[in-house]
Amino acid sequence: MLKFGVIGYGYWGPNIVRNLRALEGCQVVAICDQTPAARKRIQAAYPGIPVLSDFHELVRSPDVDAIAVITPVWTHYELAKAALEHGKHVFVEKPFTSNVKQAEKLIGLAEQKNLQIMVDHTFLFTGAVRKIKKLLKEGALGKLYYYDSTRVNLGLFQHDCNVIWDLAPHDLSIMNHLLHKEAEAVSATGQAHLNEFEDIAFITAYFPDNVIAHINVNWISPVKVRTTLIGGEKKMLVWNDVEPDEKIKVYDKGVNISSREGVYNLLVNYRSGDMWAPRIEQTEALTQELTYFVDCIVNDKTPINDGKAGLRVVRMLEAASESLRQRGALVYL
Ligand SMILES: NC(=O)c1ccc[n+]([C@@H]2O[C@H](COP(=O)([O-])OP(=O)(O)OC[C@H]3O[C@@H](n4cnc5c(N)ncnc54)[C@H](O)[C@@H]3O)[C@@H](O)[C@H]2O)c1
Repeated sequence: MLKFGVIGYGYWGPNIVRNLRALEGCQVVAICDQTPAARKRIQAAYPGIPVLSDFHELVRSPDVDAIAVITPVWTHYELAKAALEHGKHVFVEKPFTSNVKQAEKLIGLAEQKNLQIMVDHTFLFTGAVRKIKKLLKEGALGKLYYYDSTRVNLGLFQHDCNVIWDLAPHDLSIMNHLLHKEAEAVSATGQAHLNEFEDIAFITAYFPDNVIAHINVNWISPVKVRTTLIGGEKKMLVWNDVEPDEKIKVYDKGVNISSREGVYNLLVNYRSGDMWAPRIEQTEALTQELTYFVDCIVNDKTPINDGKAGLRVVRMLEAASESLRQRGALVYL
């Protein structure tokens, strides 16, 4: 029985606690939050679970094997470090840390102590991403051309980070997982309208082999859009995450070049074949992810969303922030 402690019971923490409690081979032995209102909510929801206000008490407890850090990004380093130092495996929210240095230190500490870090890149465990990964692995789309993602809606405004650090970790982690390549350079533009944090931003990432990615994140959109296009030489795919059914559509569409003789004589054939919507699994992503985390700890396996995967995302976020300050200048990784 793996014993979990959870730090942070705000907006996202309750989902982690609910999922951990439903898992076989796992038990939530204490929940910690520094605010009295959150502690009251924990007590009301789970009268049998000890509630703590000081995370030191939780990390020191010999009765805890793993700690879930479900707090704002600027606290992740301190809390995850304390947990690792006390010999606990760590499940930490996205984005992994506030900067690259912190991520590297946590990875080093976990390696030294032979402990697991899993970064909550929840979307990797959705039926949609798992299906797209399978299609790409099988080569269904052929040579990849682009990855183009839009993640916009009205709010939730964050008060401690801009829209890139809030929403883009999802896209960056999905993109890194699907493309399975490291980006070479990043450029980002954006603007703040209501406070000092950018509420709209556009990130471009350049990958090897002419693969280009674009990510559009926005807290001030009138409508919620969660759409990703992935274009390949053989086929193209649209993933619309707000669709209840048929989230993924694969199009047998493309462009063939029949003659390259001279720029003006370039002959292009457009191919427009069938569309199909593959069946995707409906299980809750967090259930899949936390089951996998327990399996990784018990069987000493390295998770796909380990500290290094978290670091890759933080490195891109840091580069995007640097580019943002320079109004879109290319930042090499
Ligand atoms: N994976 C996802 O899809 C997803 C979704 C939402 C949020 N998140 C991430 O989850 C994290 C938390 O986001 P949220 O929206 O729940 O934030 P929140 O502000 O609603 O909740 C955070 C909670 O942590 C508590 N806390 C902060 N520091 C603490 C400390 N030192 N000790 C004890 N308690 C402490 C706060 O009191 C608060 O109750 C963020 O990193 C966010 O990016 C991930």
